[in-house]
Amino acid sequence: MGHDFPKLTAEEAAELIPNGAMVGVSGFTPAGSPKAVPSALAKRARALHDAGEEFQIRLLSGASTGEACDDALAEAHAVSWRAPYLTSAPMRKLANTGRLDFIDMHLSHVAQMVAGGILGPMDVAIVEATEITREGRVYLTTAIGNSPTFLQKADRVIIELNSYHAPRIRELADVVVLPAPPNRAPILINDPLDRIGKQYAEVAPRKVVGVVHTHEPDGGRGFAPPDLVSRRIAKHVSRFLIDEIASGRIPPEFLPLQSGVGNVCNAVLAGLADSPGFPKFKVYTEVLQDAMLDLIADGSILGASTCSLTLTNEKLRFLYDHFDDFADRIVLRPQEISNSPEVARRLGIVAINTAIEVDVYGHVNSTHFYGTQIMNGLGGSGDFERNAYLSIFMCPSVAKGGRVSTIVPMCSHVDHSEHSVQVVATEHGLADLRGLAPHARARRIIDRCAHPAYRDYLRRYLESAPLGHLRHDLRRCFELHNNFLEGGVMLPDLDLKQFEEPEAAGA
Ligand code: COA
Repeated sequence: MGHDFPKLTAEEAAELIPNGAMVGVSGFTPAGSPKAVPSALAKRARALHDAGEEFQIRLLSGASTGEACDDALAEAHAVSWRAPYLTSAPMRKLANTGRLDFIDMHLSHVAQMVAGGILGPMDVAIVEATEITREGRVYLTTAIGNSPTFLQKADRVIIELNSYHAPRIRELADVVVLPAPPNRAPILINDPLDRIGKQYAEVAPRKVVGVVHTHEPDGGRGFAPPDLVSRRIAKHVSRFLIDEIASGRIPPEFLPLQSGVGNVCNAVLAGLADSPGFPKFKVYTEVLQDAMLDLIADGSILGASTCSLTLTNEKLRFLYDHFDDFADRIVLRPQEISNSPEVARRLGIVAINTAIEVDVYGHVNSTHFYGTQIMNGLGGSGDFERNAYLSIFMCPSVAKGGRVSTIVPMCSHVDHSEHSVQVVATEHGLADLRGLAPHARARRIIDRCAHPAYRDYLRRYLESAPLGHLRHDLRRCFELHNNFLEGGVMLPDLDLKQFEEPEAAGA
């Protein structure tokens, strides 16, 4: 329903976006991101490039977007600047070859930076909705992201009205836009399911230049069932959390859980839900995936606060078909609220995220291979881990068939520091680092988390490094990385056969 606003084709809407424009798009992951207009914009960019004209936009979103947006625009070389997160392979390639300025940002920071004009003026917002009313109420779809702020700040707004989505999706939304400091009051969320806002975002109707009608699913991808390594990591983390409750260090009703995306995190969720006697719990997180929806459906998870429903088409249909069962148990929030440090600290969340590499002192690299190549970005991991009651990072102990140890002397890039990373887990075990001085942390990480094939090297590195509060040998701290870059394996004499049978690895 697009009450009285000019009806446009996607191509007509794309014509309204000038070269060099800052464009803000709705959504968070493929969920809720616009589809028709970005695709049409990519086609337009190609045509202009073929005609010898320049055309590139600056693209800002909630997090990643869908193929119709990031992939299409990257493949058309239609983006010169991108923030705050990406998962698109073509976009990543541009960023890693110096052809795209990519800004890797904490996701909770984006709205206030846009509101403060820090990223420059927003020329156009493209926002997917189920309805826009005459007065400018915009009912969003499967993610809230930064749309409420983009709608307020953009000079011109294009609405993609997507009839694929059930209009009842608005019942999950809880939209608030924070005023600028110093005029902020406490965010009154004392329970993950508390509601403090409205079901709609707002836009000044005069800014809406057109409405494009679509009927397209988000196209979220499912995950393969967790592999053996993921299940082993999950087992260590689940056992640890059960012990924390048993020892009274976490209250008996547990605490709200934040869980990153991916197989390992899904395996932990399933592991907790399957653990006999583990309390039913609530979730305060940024992305709700299929596995979590199943656990809400079967009652293992009591409810979830999130920013995005990153579901497969099949699971989203299930949600729509059983909407009454979920309406009171899922809250969809803007990302400055779903990822709010203030709320995370108040609720005392348990944050579980994934690392690319961890160093022996507990610094975590979540974003860059070999210190140079961006993978996705840090997303919401920093928003949560720095403010959690308990912050856990997990990763397999090796990557690339054993050629890479994910436990290294010094991280080649640091996203999360030793000061807030409290627990590290791999398939070999779990290291609780709380209260340990650097040397003890290093010993524990090596003994419990490193792959046995890399432990001797790591121990020798530490023992031979000059004494200090942290022992490091700055001439050798990246030796493993350099070995890999030069010879394709971090330890040149390593017998790689030992990694071929995952059954043999792990505890
Ligand atoms: N060196 C080189 N490559 C490595 C590596 C390392 N230390 N660690 C992992 N990789 C590679 C893997 O080999 C794999 O490559 P492939 O796809 O070619 O096989 C790839 O990285 C992904 O690894 P995988 O173990 O499957 O991890 P994942 O899919 O769980 O993703 C992160 C891990 C860290 C990349 C991902 O969780 C992420 O982007 N995190 C940052 C954002 C975030 O934490 N958000 C949380 C809030 S929702």
